[in-house]
Amino acid sequence: MSDARLYHDLAWTWEILVSQEEYVQETEFVKKMVQKYKRITGNDLLDVGCGGGHHDLLLKSDFKIVGVDKNERMLEFARKRNPEIEYHQGDMRTFQLGRTFDVIMAMDMIMYNLTYADMERTLTNLSGHLQTGGVMIFSLEDLKEKFEQNKTKFKKHQKGNLEAVLIENQYDPNPEDTEYEYHLIFLIREEGKLRMEADLHRMGLFSLDKVLEILKKLNFRSDLYELDFSGREYQNEGPVFVCEKAG
Ligand SMILES: C[S@@+](CC[C@H](N)C(=O)[O-])C[C@H]1O[C@@H](n2cnc3c(N)ncnc32)[C@H](O)[C@@H]1O
Repeated sequence: MSDARLYHDLAWTWEILVSQEEYVQETEFVKKMVQKYKRITGNDLLDVGCGGGHHDLLLKSDFKIVGVDKNERMLEFARKRNPEIEYHQGDMRTFQLGRTFDVIMAMDMIMYNLTYADMERTLTNLSGHLQTGGVMIFSLEDLKEKFEQNKTKFKKHQKGNLEAVLIENQYDPNPEDTEYEYHLIFLIREEGKLRMEADLHRMGLFSLDKVLEILKKLNFRSDLYELDFSGREYQNEGPVFVCEKAG
C-alpha cells in the first residue's frame, strides 16, 4: 500500500500540481452518472481517497458528503477547503464508518491496491458502505492489457513564485505480478533556487476482466466510461467504472 512522499512530506506540492478547474468536468460527470444510475432517493456521498477535497468542493451543494483518506496530510487540505465536511482517516480496505451511503466515489486512488485480494477487500468494504440501489464510481488509469513500459511524461506548474516541473515515469519490473512502479521526479524552483525530489509509488496493474469478475461477484452491474469524463463509453483511456448495487 502507498507510502508515497506525495501524500506525506511532499503533500504541500499537491496544492501546486492540481488546480480546481481540473475537477469541473469530473464532478459534472459524477452528477450525470448519479442521476442516470441511482435507484434510491438519498444524497449521502462518501468520497474515498478524497485527497485535498477538490471534488467535494464542487459536489457539496448537491450531496451531503463524508470523506475518507489514509493520509492525514491530505485530510488537512481537505478540511481546510471544506471545513463543514466530516473527514475520517482510514484505509480503503478496512475503514468502518458504521453507516451506509447512496453514492460512493473513489477517484484516482483504487490503483493503490496491489493485488486482486486487496482489490476485492476494498470493493467489498465499499459495497458494505453502499445502500442497495446506490451507485459506486471509481477510475483506473491503466490496465494490464494496455500498459506501456517506460512511458514518460512531464508537465510544468506554477503557483505564485513557485515553479514545479513534474516528470512521471511508469515501469513494470515484473510483468508476472500485479504491481508496477510509478516514479515521480520533482524539479521545484523557488525564486530561482532549485530543489529536486524523487518519489516512488507502487501501484496495481489489473486486467479488466478480473476486476469486472470481482464486481459481479459482489452483485454490481457495471458500465465503463472513458477517463476523459466526457461521458463517452470506454474505448482507450481508463476506464471509469460506474457500478449499480443490485438488490
Ligand atoms: C492521486 S490522489 C487522488 C485524490 C482525489 N481522489 C483526487 O482525485 O483529487 C490519491 C489519494 O488516495 C489516498 N490513498 C492512497 N492509498 C490509500 C488507501 N489505502 N486508503 C485510502 N486512501 C488512500 C492518498 O492519500 C491520496 O490522497
